[in-house]
Amino acid sequence: MIFDLTDEQKMIQDMARDFAAKEVAPKAAEIDKNHRYPAELVAKMAELGLMGMMVPEDQGGAGMDTVSYVIALEEISAACASTGVIMSVNNSLVCDPLQRNCTPEQVEKFLKPLASGQKLGCFGLTEPNAGSDAAGQKTTAVPDGDSWVLNGSKNFITNGNEADTAIVFAMTDKEQGTRGISAFVVEKGTPGFSIGKLEDKLGICGSSTAELVFEDCRIPKDNLLGKVGEGFKIAMVTLDGGRIGIASQALGIARAALNASKQHALDRVQFGKPIARLQAIQWMIADMATKLDSARLLAYRAAYLKDKKVRFSREAAMAKLAASEAAMWISTKAIQVLGGYGYTKEYPVERNFRDAKITEIYEGTSEIMRLVIAMSELS
Ligand code: CAA
Repeated sequence: MIFDLTDEQKMIQDMARDFAAKEVAPKAAEIDKNHRYPAELVAKMAELGLMGMMVPEDQGGAGMDTVSYVIALEEISAACASTGVIMSVNNSLVCDPLQRNCTPEQVEKFLKPLASGQKLGCFGLTEPNAGSDAAGQKTTAVPDGDSWVLNGSKNFITNGNEADTAIVFAMTDKEQGTRGISAFVVEKGTPGFSIGKLEDKLGICGSSTAELVFEDCRIPKDNLLGKVGEGFKIAMVTLDGGRIGIASQALGIARAALNASKQHALDRVQFGKPIARLQAIQWMIADMATKLDSARLLAYRAAYLKDKKVRFSREAAMAKLAASEAAMWISTKAIQVLGGYGYTKEYPVERNFRDAKITEIYEGTSEIMRLVIAMSELS
């Protein structure tokens, strides 16, 4: 494994860092405060090729590798974690499964507009009674003539409120268990498909988290993604990639919190010297930097393996586990380093702390990550 970034990866890092510093960071506090979906930033990310980074250019994407995606997503998330997750879901949970499973007609109809960022997507797997136990799908899809008819609901769906296109998992044969789940593409505006409850959340307040409701929702037969019964595997392979995305989002949050801590430690004078000269602070900064670097190396490794097209479930789970727990730990310590200032909305670390928590939950909790790692270690 090579640790140096290629010239192309460095270029992408510079581009994403520049965009994040000039256009994303100045708006992050306002987006968080007003719970505002950053439509103008998503449009700009589309222009920059950040919404379908790993999709080949002839399919509407930017044709980059997964390491480039990790690098760019860390930069965007360091500025604004809400903007980061919008980007992550479109890339990892929508474009990736489409790219792997679309027919040539579906590439034209669904993938190209999503990979170019003209449209936005969401991933409908979770249900009120199918969270960590993703196989417990209650939504059904029944064939009827030239259509599938969907009934049920999905919840906690990132981008759900704004998405033009949803990938939806539903039970097509209950008797078959995980092999009875199939994947579908459902477009906004389809009769019988509506948006239900919108969640009011602790963090990532600029991204929507919505309920998707299907009531006798009739979609064309051609909107089946992959084959009947392949849905669960499509979802699991997709989530392996998604976990690399969330690891990258967590890296960004953690880095922002560490940078704020370093700046404050150098500026803040107590007992006649900058607090950066106190060992109590130095040890916190050292542990923060070590946890961040360890997690980043795991994320790069998982991305590298994904690009090599070998199974990377274990490595993606390790990267997400390490990066999300690092983000939570580092942002907690950041508030400690900033003291009373850190607890106020005047400084970004309280937002980092609130945004970090979700990375330990969505796209597989830390407990599910440990389960995936243990199953691999013990098999
Ligand atoms: N890659 C390929 N195949 C896989 C796989 C993977 N990563 N994981 C499982 N499979 C296959 C298995 O090999 C098995 O195949 P066979 O039928 O051929 O034997 C099949 O899938 C069933 O596997 P399991 O028996 O292991 O399935 P399980 O029901 O025990 O579940 C689990 C395993 C790891 C707990 C899984 O349910 C899981 O990952 N749960 C967490 C779900 C999750 O991450 N949800 C997040 C939703 S997305 C989100 O957060 C919303 C958002 O908008 C951000």
